[in-house]
Amino acid sequence: MKLAILSRAPRSYSTQRLRTAAADRGHTVKVLNTLRFGIDLSGEEPDLQFRGKRLSTYDAILPRVGNSVTYFGTAVVRQFEQMDVYTPSTSWGIANSRDKLRATQILSRHNIGMPPTTFVRDRADVIPAIERVGGAPVVIKLLEGTQGIGVILAPTVKVAEAVIETLQSTKQNVLIQRFVKESKGRDIRALVVGDRVVAAMRRVAKGDEFRSNVHRGGSVEAVDLDPEFEKAAVRSAQIMGLRVAGVDMLEGADGPQVMEVNSSPGLEGIETATKLDVAGAIIDYIDNQVAFPEIDVRQRLTVSTGYGVAEIAVLEASDLVGKALGDSGLRERDITALTLHRGTSVIPNPNGRHVLEAGDRLLCFGKLEEMRSMIPSRRRRTRKVKRLPEEPIHDVPQT
Ligand SMILES: Nc1ncnc2c1ncn2[C@@H]1O[C@H](COP(=O)(O)OP(=O)(O)O)[C@@H](O)[C@H]1O
Ligand SMILES: [Mg+2]
Repeated sequence: MKLAILSRAPRSYSTQRLRTAAADRGHTVKVLNTLRFGIDLSGEEPDLQFRGKRLSTYDAILPRVGNSVTYFGTAVVRQFEQMDVYTPSTSWGIANSRDKLRATQILSRHNIGMPPTTFVRDRADVIPAIERVGGAPVVIKLLEGTQGIGVILAPTVKVAEAVIETLQSTKQNVLIQRFVKESKGRDIRALVVGDRVVAAMRRVAKGDEFRSNVHRGGSVEAVDLDPEFEKAAVRSAQIMGLRVAGVDMLEGADGPQVMEVNSSPGLEGIETATKLDVAGAIIDYIDNQVAFPEIDVRQRLTVSTGYGVAEIAVLEASDLVGKALGDSGLRERDITALTLHRGTSVIPNPNGRHVLEAGDRLLCFGKLEEMRSMIPSRRRRTRKVKRLPEEPIHDVPQT
C-alpha cells in the first residue's frame, strides 16, 4: 500500500518507528507535514494540495495530529475521508477524544467504568458538584490538557473552589472528577489496535506525585492485562471512532476506570516497556483495512427522503417481547434491524431467529413514519407552525 503518515515531527521516535515498520514491510510510505496541506473544495470532487501541488493518490493515512493543530489537522483528515482514503482514526474521533468533557459524555452512555465527573459553570454549583463526585480531595482538569499539565489534585473543598474560580476567571473550562485514591498514583495505558490490545503498561507516578504521566517523571513497566481492562479499552476506542488509540485507565476498586482515549499515542514508552513491535502491529492492521474507508453511515443512509436510522427500545410492555425478530413484523413495515444491543453486548446483523427480550435496543434503518409509531412517548412534532399567541410572554406557575 501507499501510506501517508501525517505528522509535524518526522524525527520523533513514534514517527520514525512507524515509517520504518511500513518500509520494512514493503509499503511505500511518506511522512507529510499536516500543516502543509491545502483543502481544495473548488473542483467537482474533494481534493487535497500538498505544498501547493495536487496530492498524489494514497491508499491510507495514519494521522498523528498534535494537540496544537486539532482544528486544521482534523479538517485534513476529514478531507481524506471525503476522498475515500482509509484512516484508522476518524476525524470526529480525534476531535472528540481531544476534549475530556466530550469524550466522557460520549462514553457515558455505554456502560464504561469512569471516575464520576461533573461539569458546571456557575459559582453556586461548584460545591454541590464536588460533593456529588464524593467530596475532597478532588481532581480538577482542564478540558484540553495533555502530559499531566492541567490536572490538579485539590486537597480540600476550599482549595478546589479557589482553583476553579481562578481557572474560570481566565476563561478556562474545568472538569471536576472523583479522585480514585485506590489507584495510588498508578494507571494503565493500553494500546488498542483494531479490536484488541496489542501492548499494555502500568505507569507509576514519581514520589508523592499523583499523576503517572511519563512527562511528569512516571516510570513504566509491562503488564499482563486483565480481560476486564482489555474489554474496557477496546470498547472505549471503538466508541470513540479510533482504531489506533492509547486508553488510560485507573485501577479502581470496582475495576477499570477509563480516564481518556488518546488518538496519537506515543510509542516510545510502550515499546520500550514491553519490547513489542507496536508500530508493526499498527501498520499491519492498516494494510488489512485499506479496503474499508470511513463512511458516514448516518449521513449516507438518510439521503432518501422519508428513510432514516432510529433506535427502537423493546419495552417491558411491548408485544415484541418474546417474539423472534423474523416474526416481529419489522421487515413487513420496511424496517431493517442493523444491530441488536443487549446490556453491554451488541449482536451485529441479527438474524430472524433472535428472540427479543425486554430491555433490548434495536438500531434500525427504515421508513421514519413506521419507526416513529414504535418509539413510545416521544413528543410528536406538530406539522403546522402556530400563530404567535396574543400574550407571548406571561407569568407561568413554577413547577
Ligand atoms: N480521577 C483521578 N484519580 C486519580 N488519578 C488521576 C485521576 N485523573 C487523572 N489522574 C492521574 O493524572 C494523570 C493525568 O490525567 P489525564 O486525565 O490522563 O490527563 P493528561 O491528558 O494530561 O494525561 C493520569 O495518568 C493519572 O495518573
Ligand atoms: Mg493521560
